[in-house]
Amino acid sequence: RNRQPIVAIDGPAGAGKSTVTRVVAQQLGLLYLDTGAMYRAVTWLVLQSGIALDDESAIAELVSQCQIKFVENQQNESSPQILINDYDVTQAIRSMEVTAQVSAIAALHSVRTELVRQQQNIGKKGGIVAEGRDIGTNVFPDAELKIFLTASVQERARRRLLELQKQGQENVTLEQLENLIQERDMSDSNRTFAPLRKAIDAVEIQTDNLSIVEVTNQIISLYKQQLTTNNHK
Ligand code: CDP
Ligand code: CDP
Repeated sequence: RNRQPIVAIDGPAGAGKSTVTRVVAQQLGLLYLDTGAMYRAVTWLVLQSGIALDDESAIAELVSQCQIKFVENQQNESSPQILINDYDVTQAIRSMEVTAQVSAIAALHSVRTELVRQQQNIGKKGGIVAEGRDIGTNVFPDAELKIFLTASVQERARRRLLELQKQGQENVTLEQLENLIQERDMSDSNRTFAPLRKAIDAVEIQTDNLSIVEVTNQIISLYKQQLTTNNHK
């Protein structure tokens, strides 16, 4: 095989994918690819353009012409900035508005086709840790290591609440967050194209009672095991 290894990390919102993937990529010296940020950037673009959310052909046209770039962040090298059509949307894609619409936009076949093409292009030489919903099942089905991160809805809502509180946002309750997370789980798992699924050959890690360091160490040791096994084949 003439490419570097690929690690695929999938799971629902709040399972710890971004946090864990960032550290794993840094420790293994691989590139971090946040595919959720790409769906968020496209959602931001659609909202910004004023196109109706049910106008699939206009959305398809807009997305087929968009250019997404990840650029290194001077302040924080493990957390790249994201640009769409040269706009820096690193902050904007985390808004409640984008979060509320992203699953609907990500369900569109034309949107997925274009973003998967861009993701496969970024990963064509390997050497990446990619996180999302369909990485192990659809984007990089031949990844050397596939991880499926989970946690209960209650725990994932609790993590989000803590994050919001740290940012000084106190206007949402735990119950509201549980409902929002459940809605997104439902639409991501029940859509027609590349729904959120654990790949058959993925290792599931239930993280309710695990720290970020514990999860990260498990993945790194699985990666090392995997590479040694492969080298002996
Ligand atoms: O960070 P959080 O878990 O809230 O979500 P994200 O990873 O930023 O992904 C946002 C949304 O993009 C998800 O809820 C999915 O609807 C969509 N997504 C997807 O469909 N496929 C991916 N590979 C990644 C994200
Ligand atoms: O990317 P995803 O939505 O899967 O989750 P995340 O944004 O990486 O993690 C959500 C929050 O949970 C972050 O504030 C993490 O610090 C926290 N977290 C945790 O408390 N324990 C873990 N084992 C993993 C993440």
